[in-house]
Amino acid sequence: MTPQNQPAYAVPKLTDFSAPALDKAAKDLLAALENESTKVKNEGDLKTFRDRWMARKDGILTHVNHLWLKAAPKDAKRDVGQRVNQLKAEVEQKIESALQQSQNAGPQSRGDAERIDISLPALRRPIGAEHPVIKTMNEIVGVFRNLGYSVEEGPVIESDYYNFESLNFPPNHPARDTQDTLFIANQESKPQRERLLLRTHTSPVQIRTMEKMKPPLRIVIPGKVHRNDPPDASHSPMFHQVEGLAVDTNITFGDLKGTLDHAMKMLFGSSVKTSFRPSFFPFTEPSAEMMVSCFICGGSGKRVVGTKEEPCRPCKQSGWIEILGCGMVDPNVFGFVKENGYDPKKISGFAFGMGADRIALLKYGVDDIQLFFQGDVRFLEQFG
Ligand code: PHE
Repeated sequence: MTPQNQPAYAVPKLTDFSAPALDKAAKDLLAALENESTKVKNEGDLKTFRDRWMARKDGILTHVNHLWLKAAPKDAKRDVGQRVNQLKAEVEQKIESALQQSQNAGPQSRGDAERIDISLPALRRPIGAEHPVIKTMNEIVGVFRNLGYSVEEGPVIESDYYNFESLNFPPNHPARDTQDTLFIANQESKPQRERLLLRTHTSPVQIRTMEKMKPPLRIVIPGKVHRNDPPDASHSPMFHQVEGLAVDTNITFGDLKGTLDHAMKMLFGSSVKTSFRPSFFPFTEPSAEMMVSCFICGGSGKRVVGTKEEPCRPCKQSGWIEILGCGMVDPNVFGFVKENGYDPKKISGFAFGMGADRIALLKYGVDDIQLFFQGDVRFLEQFG
């Protein structure tokens, strides 16, 4: 801290305790203090500086105490004492301001090892994007919210009662085979209806909602479901559905058709047509499958690629794409929630359920459902 050619300040022994001599000694000391304080550049310097001046055992102030105050003759003690106190205050203040300076200077004043390298590229936190399946589900839900439907959700681990029994799949009914799934192990001691399984559809939320809310009711239910389907380009043991349920007095099949036709036009464009074919679900009667005219080939079954005409694959050249299952709520289903105001003699309703993953495949022209679940960022980024 001291220039090499100049010896470091040392507290001189005093023999003359006259005022001018004390003035001179104090002046030298303060000059050294000032000089050394300007050289404090970092925390290491600061510690050395503080120790040199304040260390109890061997600091300059301790020397001053010994060499000046203790050595002073009785009649000079008062004067010397006052001066020493002043010097102490000055030293403390200098150290305090040196401390503040080194703090304000920030990391740049720390040792070289800690210095920030501003040439390094900053940490990048890429913003996430909605997964294409979730995005599609949100779009579908949005269409129904605009029609006044509210959103309900239910558990993915469901009981046999909600997934099957209350939806009019009696125990051992062959319709259960169409929705095989995983059961939680070691539940043999429980009654069948209480056994837990991975839900195979979002329909159990129909019953759960009707148990807690009285009619009229209009709900959409997005959610994850599981089935014992080996994975391939169009199947996944885990996939997503959006369910809908409307219950009121005098709900007819015409309401179902009008509602779903409107929803498809909102989702796929106003030129799509819809068509219904008879089907079977235990919990709806009558039941139907709804088709939409193929929005890829426009319903012609053929696609023009360049100058060539090719068969349209997504609709298997039929011009129609099967998009959802639906029907009028079976009176037996209302029977399970009759006590909550669902008397099948007074009310009626329709329900529908669609596969969100399948719709996402069609919407984005993706040809393998597995791509949605492999988590490859290069694939997913394209939807950001
Ligand atoms: N839950 C049925 C399925 O998963 C779809 C459906 C829902 C059918 C509602 C009719 C009414 O296949």
